Amino acid sequence: MAESLFVPRTSDRKKIYDEIAPQIAGLVEGETDLTANLANITAALKEAFGFFWVGFYIKKENQLVLNAFQGPVACTRIDFDKGVCGHCYTTREIVIVPNVEKFPGHIACSSASKSEIVLPVFDKRGEVAMVLDVDSDKLDDFSETDADGLQKIVKIAEKLL
Ligand code: SME
Repeated sequence: MAESLFVPRTSDRKKIYDEIAPQIAGLVEGETDLTANLANITAALKEAFGFFWVGFYIKKENQLVLNAFQGPVACTRIDFDKGVCGHCYTTREIVIVPNVEKFPGHIACSSASKSEIVLPVFDKRGEVAMVLDVDSDKLDDFSETDADGLQKIVKIAEKLL
């Protein structure tokens, strides 16, 4: 496993996702510890894009509980009917929020967070086992390019479950 990440110098996010996805697959290959792998996935995303906050919340009993992340401290537990993460969990769909202030029930872990994307991560039974949450300090920072690119990373995370 390579312990360094090559990130192309471009503002074309699709190119960056295409470049880092196989590297992230290599990074987690051969390691069985889930938290270690999730931690490296969030570090790679932070390094590649400089996102304000990127992390996983894992479903535990009836809540989503903070797991590996990069960025400022964050709320530790989210109810299924709360926040963008809860919305992603219950709808089982990717949620893009261009302006968090306009999302009813958004949980503001930081006032610097302006836009957000959350993706469901499914286990082998087809249940949502985790969500991947990415926050930006810029408004309207996420598009279908991010949904597609992050989905590739989610597929890697799903193989770990
Ligand atoms: N904003 C999220 C909560 C998690 S933090 O952004 C890290 C939400 O509304 O679910």
